[in-house]
Amino acid sequence: MSRILTGIQSTGTPHLGNILGAIIPAIEMSNKEGNESFLFIADLHSLTQIKNKEELKHNTYSVAATWLAFGLNPKKTIFYRQSDVPECTELAWYISCFFPYQRLKLAHSFKDKSSRLQDVNAGLFIYPILMAADILLYNANYVPVGRDQLQHLEITRDIASRINSKIGDTLVVPEAIIQKNTMSIPGTDGEKMSKSKNNTINVLDSKNEIKKIINKKIITDDTPLEKPKNPDTSTVYKLYSLLASKEDSKIMHNKLKVGNYGWGHAKKDLLNIIDLKFSKEREKYLYYMNNLHELDDVLLKGANKARKIAKETNLKLRNKLGY
Ligand code: TRP
Repeated sequence: MSRILTGIQSTGTPHLGNILGAIIPAIEMSNKEGNESFLFIADLHSLTQIKNKEELKHNTYSVAATWLAFGLNPKKTIFYRQSDVPECTELAWYISCFFPYQRLKLAHSFKDKSSRLQDVNAGLFIYPILMAADILLYNANYVPVGRDQLQHLEITRDIASRINSKIGDTLVVPEAIIQKNTMSIPGTDGEKMSKSKNNTINVLDSKNEIKKIINKKIITDDTPLEKPKNPDTSTVYKLYSLLASKEDSKIMHNKLKVGNYGWGHAKKDLLNIIDLKFSKEREKYLYYMNNLHELDDVLLKGANKARKIAKETNLKLRNKLGY
């Protein structure tokens, strides 16, 4: 049996790009038999960027509610909040003492973030160490991540190997699974959908809010209503075809090519499919957001399971280190 673990950033409410590109595929993978899966919300990592209590809490709840709304089964997956497992920060300290400072300085995620962000704190610098602790704490075999996290996985493997060779076999050296599905979901401006680009569509919002975003922000050209339009370069069509059935996508494709079907019509059809497609999930999401104690309950149950394993790992290490 393989143990699969991954962490989710909690920097904001998940948008359509996160949902189609990460959440749905991860839930499908976690529902496969034969794997033991761990999924957690990396809210300690979020502290590198977010210092506001309400925002930090809200983001975590909203991420948890989204995953549950899309069908994550907390009976099958150990689902928890990183901050509920303080063993993680303890392990981060031990392992940080085995990793050369000069190597950490080469991490490109830090170089990238420190050039972009105002708050360049030490937490940002040791981010990869905390991430390694997230993984090594549970003897994870496989870690599904996006390409941008590959270097962090290399650091994790390096740390585990260094520790094993210094104090004897203690930690499992994990492998990255690169999510091949780099399906890029276009944002309202046609670029890849991303919170930092401010071009997201939040499909769990109310229909009215989504309508505003679609009408005001999705860029179209100024071809008049009656003229033929090019569906293949159109963001409205691209988004529609990601959500609609093949037949319905063909219908919109045709209507745009023929003419007498304006961007306003296409936007209305896009709005309707989003509304229809995610109505069940939106209802579940709202239910959880209105019953936060249920979310807490699910997450704490997950954390209790996780902590049992985490404590064993730390104890093993403490023994070997002489504490
Ligand atoms: N750094 C990851 C990201 O930005 C999130 C994360 C934190 C993570 N800890 C992890 C991912 C452990 C995998 C395993 O997406």
